[in-house]
Amino acid sequence: MAFSESKIAFNEVIIIGAGFSGLAMACQLKRKLGCDDFSVFDRASGYGGAWHANQYPGCGVDIPAALYSLSFAPKTDFSCFFPKQDEILHYINSVVKDHQLMSHFTGHTEWVGASWQESSKTWHVTLKDLHTGQEFLRECRILVSAVGALSMPDKSSIPGAERFTGDVIHTANWDRTVSLRDKRVVVIGNGASATQIIPAIAKEAGEITQFIRTPQLYLPGQNTTIGSLWQNAYKYVPGLLVLVRIVIFLYLETATLQFRRNKTGANMRDQQFLVSRRYILDNAPEKYWSLLIPTTEAGCKRRVFDNDGYIHCLNRDNVHLVQDPVVEINESAVLTRSGRVYPADVIILGTGFSLSHFDTRVIGCQGRTRAEHWKSLGGIKAFNTIAMSGFPNLFYVLGPNSGTGHTSTIYAIESYVDLIVRVIEPILRGKASSVQVKASSEQLYSKEIEQALQKTIYNNSCPSWFIDKKTGTNWAIYPWSSFWMWYTTRAAGLDDWVHEVGAPSCGI
Ligand SMILES: Cc1cc2nc3c(=O)[nH]c(=O)nc-3n(C[C@H](O)[C@H](O)[C@H](O)COP(=O)(O)OP(=O)(O)OC[C@H]3O[C@@H](n4cnc5c(N)ncnc54)[C@H](O)[C@@H]3O)c2cc1C
Ligand SMILES: NC(=O)c1ccc[n+]([C@@H]2O[C@H](COP(=O)([O-])OP(=O)(O)OC[C@H]3O[C@@H](n4cnc5c(N)ncnc54)[C@H](OP(=O)(O)O)[C@@H]3O)[C@@H](O)[C@H]2O)c1
Ligand SMILES: *[C@@H]1O[C@H](CO)[C@@H](O)[C@H](O)[C@H]1NC(C)=O
Ligand SMILES: *[C@@H]1O[C@H](CO)[C@@H](O)[C@H](O)[C@H]1NC(C)=O
Ligand SMILES: *[C@@H]1O[C@H](CO)[C@@H](O)[C@H](O)[C@H]1NC(C)=O
Ligand SMILES: *[C@@H]1O[C@H](CO)[C@@H](O)[C@H](O)[C@H]1NC(C)=O
Repeated sequence: MAFSESKIAFNEVIIIGAGFSGLAMACQLKRKLGCDDFSVFDRASGYGGAWHANQYPGCGVDIPAALYSLSFAPKTDFSCFFPKQDEILHYINSVVKDHQLMSHFTGHTEWVGASWQESSKTWHVTLKDLHTGQEFLRECRILVSAVGALSMPDKSSIPGAERFTGDVIHTANWDRTVSLRDKRVVVIGNGASATQIIPAIAKEAGEITQFIRTPQLYLPGQNTTIGSLWQNAYKYVPGLLVLVRIVIFLYLETATLQFRRNKTGANMRDQQFLVSRRYILDNAPEKYWSLLIPTTEAGCKRRVFDNDGYIHCLNRDNVHLVQDPVVEINESAVLTRSGRVYPADVIILGTGFSLSHFDTRVIGCQGRTRAEHWKSLGGIKAFNTIAMSGFPNLFYVLGPNSGTGHTSTIYAIESYVDLIVRVIEPILRGKASSVQVKASSEQLYSKEIEQALQKTIYNNSCPSWFIDKKTGTNWAIYPWSSFWMWYTTRAAGLDDWVHEVGAPSCGI
């Protein structure tokens, strides 16, 4: 495609993705670097990312919101410990307003490619207007990929789904106009999303049939509201909310030992298995016990906290749990391997996400693509989760192996943003034209992370969303503790980075 060079609009920074990662990056550009020359693009219509996309009934957090919120934008009046999606999205929108980020945002725009321009030390970024289908080019000095990890709904469709005359809705693509009242609803999947949606729709729907494939590690949840007394205390007692955040952080951090592949970890996993089993025996109908009790090693799938009473809800007469693989969908029904037919009005796909968010074509130094780079490194990897050698001025927020299942992702996001801000500061101050990580540092890190993963149950103990189905590897989860994350992102020096002034940035 030919673009006319003279018309390319320029920004110091372009951020792709307007979820918590893009939001935190945008806020810190303003707060820490005084940079106002940036644009944020997202294929969605507004800020929020996962919290904009996942509007299914019952959607909410499973990490206390006191910690699942931005450190520099504390919120004192969450209504409960584990608030629902509408409250989180409302919070996000208030941060957007407070930091005047709306004018930086362009929605309905997909990022389709980027290539490094060695002569100008800039990125050419190809974007696509989803309303018109037109592609256009933007230029920036620094490009930030904040595309999320759970942002691409798994569409691996069941044969015949397109023939179905009712609605087929994915949890991460929810359509609020569809009524479930008195409908025959089929739910496919039993991860965290399906576990939240079923109790939320059980009263309204006519019949619900849920198809389960592998049991999850269901754990008893909580549903504590936060009254005005606590809200006022958070608001007026200096330091109280910070203290609560620290206590929650430390409490959640104790779980990291549980993922170690040693005796301590194994004991903790056995304990969790017993808690899960007890919870099921005490709350689920006996006919479902064998379907619900985990068969895989505890914790090798992300734990599912039952904050809304899913397990108990299985006692309802209109909720049915079935373990019989769905093989086909026709105009009006779901057909299973055993030959049974389940007539349906609405099919809800709680089938999770595909790990395809790093598939966008990115071309770095000497015309080398990101895919080629990863092939030579032996997998999808990024130094300290944020950068790759040979790709100057390109950064990830929530990049490869950045996810933390046991604590707030926002803690991780803020840590990575902090490191990026430190690394790019000389560029935005005009003291350097480009920066990239040393190839030797990247290779060393790559070995370290492989070894660290081997010591956890995340490497590949059972199928779960964070294991790449194509390679069988885990390039999603962070294997170390949050303390180590703090040290490597906020305290450690910048010896692994090379800032170039005028000189060539490629070929180091
Ligand atoms: C239902 C649900 C509940 C969750 N609950 C918790 C929780 O309780 N605690 C927790 O710690 N974590 C939770 N998570 C994980 C959650 O993904 C992170 O906490 C966090 O929201 C990630 O933010 P992000 O900005 O990195 O990604 P996202 O919020 O996914 O945002 C990424 C954005 O990038 C956009 N994008 C991606 N690719 C492109 C492209 N090529 N072009 C244009 N735009 C693009 C997407 O449209 C999306 O808006 C949950 C996730 C889901 C789905
Ligand atoms: N705050 C929260 O409580 C919350 C809520 C929602 C999501 N999340 C986050 O998002 C992640 C993803 O959650 P998710 O529930 O959306 O996805 P998920 O954990 O990947 O679960 C997908 C479910 O769909 C099943 N599945 C997929 N394809 C299927 C098929 N063809 N037939 C039958 N079953 C099929 C999977 O079964 P198998 O296990 O057999 O593959 C699994 O039970 C969570 O781990 C969590 O990190 C958090
Ligand atoms: C397991 O590993 C953790 C973290 O390294 C350590 O604290 C713990 O003592 C180890 N347990 C055993 C039994 O080695
Ligand atoms: C949780 O609390 C909310 C608000 O008090 C209530 O509406 C909801 O029904 C409760 N859910 C469960 C499972 O207790
Ligand atoms: C769907 O398939 C089932 C089982 O084969 C059949 O009984 C039903 O009539 C089919 N429905 C339609 C509309 O073809
Ligand atoms: C994960 O690590 C364990 C322990 O080192 C090992 O037994 C297992 O084979 C590893 N799996 C993969 C896929 O590397």
